[in-house]
Amino acid sequence: MRRSLVMGNWKMNGTRSSAESLAKGIIAGLGEDVADIAICVPYVFLPDIGNVVQNSRLALGAQNVADKPSGAFTGEISAAMLMEFGCKYALVGHSERRTYYGDTDQSVAARFSQAQEQGIIPVLCIGETLEQRKLEQTFDVITTQLDAVVNLAGIAAFNNAVIAYEPVWAIGTGLTATDDQAQEAHLFIRNYLAAKDQAVAEKIQILYGGSAKPDNAKGLFAMPDIDGGLIGGASLDAESFLKIYHSV
Ligand code: G3P
Repeated sequence: MRRSLVMGNWKMNGTRSSAESLAKGIIAGLGEDVADIAICVPYVFLPDIGNVVQNSRLALGAQNVADKPSGAFTGEISAAMLMEFGCKYALVGHSERRTYYGDTDQSVAARFSQAQEQGIIPVLCIGETLEQRKLEQTFDVITTQLDAVVNLAGIAAFNNAVIAYEPVWAIGTGLTATDDQAQEAHLFIRNYLAAKDQAVAEKIQILYGGSAKPDNAKGLFAMPDIDGGLIGGASLDAESFLKIYHSV
């Protein structure tokens, strides 16, 4: 039986003080251990939040990670550096990095592989745009994004990773995928993996992201192939994020 995972993605939000308060508020409201829980915070808050979450069930993640171990790569942060602050996860290939900062399927696969080699669990973000969905290209897009990782690192790489299906048209729009739309995509992802390695497909947590809120999380999380959520806006409020967590 897969444990669920509810992961917050704070994106580029907050101050040093608000970040600390938010993390402490989440920890204070954790209650029953119903699932894994994590927050992906801006790099500059990692030292503070790493200290706050230490000795709690709340795990720490980053929102990106370098595709190299070290060297002359200005502005990049390595997996080893993230681990110095207790980072367990790193998002790779979030649609906002693909859209605004030119991450390609190949560079995302390189970030995925490098993170994993150094001990960070990569969270591979995949999903289609509204245009691609309208053109019925959703499954082709997901296949291409998954193939890039398999071609570089092999199907075994998904033994120690998380996948987040985030339909781009649902991110930050308030237009959540229906439970059935999300389940259809998640099942496709699971079947893609099962065709290569049944054990990997059964083990991996596949999260849904895209306007997941306290009022829709329960229905989404009840779907057989949705193992939790990657939460943006609603993770910036401890009460909302915890309501989603307790919807598992
Ligand atoms: O990474 C999660 C994020 O992209 C979803 O954002 O605000 O639609 O929950 P939001």
